[in-house]
Amino acid sequence: MHNNLLGIHKYEAEDEDLMAEVLEGLNQSQKKLPSKLFYDQKGSELFDQICDLKEYYLTQTEMWIMNRYIDEISSMLGEKCLLIELGSGSSTKVRMLLDHLDDPVGYVPVDISLEHLLSSANSIARDYPNIKVLPVYADYTQPFVLPDISIHFSKKVIYYPGSTIGNFTPTNASRFINRIAENSGNGSGFLIGVDLKKDTKTLEAAYNDKEGVTAAFNLNMLKRLNGELKTDFDLSQWRHHAFYNMGEGRIEMHLVSLKEQQVSLNGTGIEFKKDETILTEYSYKYSANEFEELLEDGFKVEKVWTDEENKFSVQYMTAR
Ligand code: TRP
Repeated sequence: MHNNLLGIHKYEAEDEDLMAEVLEGLNQSQKKLPSKLFYDQKGSELFDQICDLKEYYLTQTEMWIMNRYIDEISSMLGEKCLLIELGSGSSTKVRMLLDHLDDPVGYVPVDISLEHLLSSANSIARDYPNIKVLPVYADYTQPFVLPDISIHFSKKVIYYPGSTIGNFTPTNASRFINRIAENSGNGSGFLIGVDLKKDTKTLEAAYNDKEGVTAAFNLNMLKRLNGELKTDFDLSQWRHHAFYNMGEGRIEMHLVSLKEQQVSLNGTGIEFKKDETILTEYSYKYSANEFEELLEDGFKVEKVWTDEENKFSVQYMTAR
């Protein structure tokens, strides 16, 4: 334990909620599963591997942009800021900020995978003894209260990298961002990574890697349900399918049933036809203008940084 690592705050969801949520999703005509189910310990590890894949240009490009413009980013965030990272995972990207910002005072990682959260919070606390680390175990898409922060900071900055905002529908993304704006107070900052629209081939390759890591990540959701909700999905009878839906501007992640089959969930039998799919995730892609339209009145974009091929953007906005 490091003395700058403050106690963990937990906002736990009930298991019953999960069962009800899963049942509801599987009872719709397009069957769905909630994407937060991706991130158990195994899923979080697989996601780290996705980020290192050659085809998954998002992480490399985002880090290239951060590295190239870190001085400008640091001067916009100012001194003594408190960083709150939503979906912090391994807390890898934030190190670039902690290394370069002007005397950052605190780091609040928020994540839904408990083990992952604790081990990353611990290593950040070890490597940055001058920064207070306050881990929060929560589903950040649900309202939660920030822990009482007894440290003096000059600006609160939400950090939301990885284009995770694209995993909401545009309507929900807009609501989510505006709710954050209401809760974080005038002048607070928001540093966000947003993936940009581009050719179908590049997009589809990023979600269909040759090694099959993304497929394993997608299928891990069924494995997790078998463990936690005692379903009996036969993993050999499902395959990963990801494609770009250009009309909607999104990648869609599905699991395809390889045959007609039945799966039991809490005493209910769920029927799947051959080739029927379960939708597991959307990943929306935006142009800079489309993204700005989502913001409405909550946040104002101060600066957009991109790479030379305009693949990805890092944006800084302030609450008004
Ligand atoms: N935020 C990531 C993205 O939209 C999440 C992600 C990457 C993902 N690969 C995935 C989600 C595969 C589900 C399946 O790019």
